[in-house]
Amino acid sequence: MTATIPRTLNVKEAIENRRSIRKYAQEPMNQDDLHEILRLASLAPSAWNAQTWRFAVVQDAAIKQQLQDAAYGQGQVTNAPAVIVVYSDMEDTLATVEETAHPGMGEAGREGQRKTFDGAFGGQDVAQRGQWGLSQANIAFAFVMIAARGLGYDTVPMLGFQPDKVKEILGLPEHVQFAGLLPVGKRAEDGFPHHRHSVERITKFY
Ligand SMILES: Cc1cc2nc3c(=O)[nH]c(=O)nc-3n(C[C@H](O)[C@H](O)[C@H](O)COP(=O)(O)O)c2cc1C
Repeated sequence: MTATIPRTLNVKEAIENRRSIRKYAQEPMNQDDLHEILRLASLAPSAWNAQTWRFAVVQDAAIKQQLQDAAYGQGQVTNAPAVIVVYSDMEDTLATVEETAHPGMGEAGREGQRKTFDGAFGGQDVAQRGQWGLSQANIAFAFVMIAARGLGYDTVPMLGFQPDKVKEILGLPEHVQFAGLLPVGKRAEDGFPHHRHSVERITKFY
C-alpha cells in the first residue's frame, strides 16, 4: 500500500521522499497547487538572474497522447494528470533581458543587464548560448521536482523523447532546449527505493 505523506513536507522530507513515479491517481491536478509548484520553481537561482527557463503545462488528454507518442510511448505521460515541460528559451531571455534586472537598480541596472548579456552572448551562436541557457533551466527543473514533492505530488523527470516532435506539438521555436518532460500527479505506486553512490565515493574533501 502507498504510504500516506503529510501535505507539506520540509526540504529534507521532500528530497528523501522524491522518487520517480510512473503511475498516478486518476484525478485532475489542483490548479492552485500546480500554480504554486511553478511559482516555487521560478524562485530558482540563475546566473545574472537570467531566468532562462520556461514552462509548458499540458493537461489536455489529446496533447498528452501526442507527447507520449513523441516519448517512445512511455505510459507515464498520459497516466499523469499533468505534464510540465521545462525548457530554456535563451533567445527570449536575450530579447527581454532588461526584465531580469532588479527594479531596485533602476535604469542603470537595466542598461547594465543589457550590456552584460550582449557582451557575454553577442559573439556566440544560437546553439552555443542555448546550451548556457539550458544549464540554468536545469536548476529550475530540479526545483519543480522538489516543490512538487513538498506539496504532496510526485513526478518523473524524462529526457527520453524526440525534441523536434515535442517542439512541433507545443508550437515552440526551433532554438529552445529542453530540461525535460515532467509528468506530475499523486502517486499510485511506491516507486523504487533510492540507490545512490555514497558521499565518500563522489566527494573529495580538501
Ligand atoms: C534528466 C533525466 C532524464 C530521465 N529520463 C527518463 C525517461 O525518459 N523515462 C523514465 O522512465 N525515467 C527517466 N528518468 C528517471 C531516472 O531513471 C531516475 O531518476 C533514476 O533512476 C533515479 O530514480 P529516482 O528518480 O526514483 O530516485 C530520468 C531522470 C533524469 C534526471
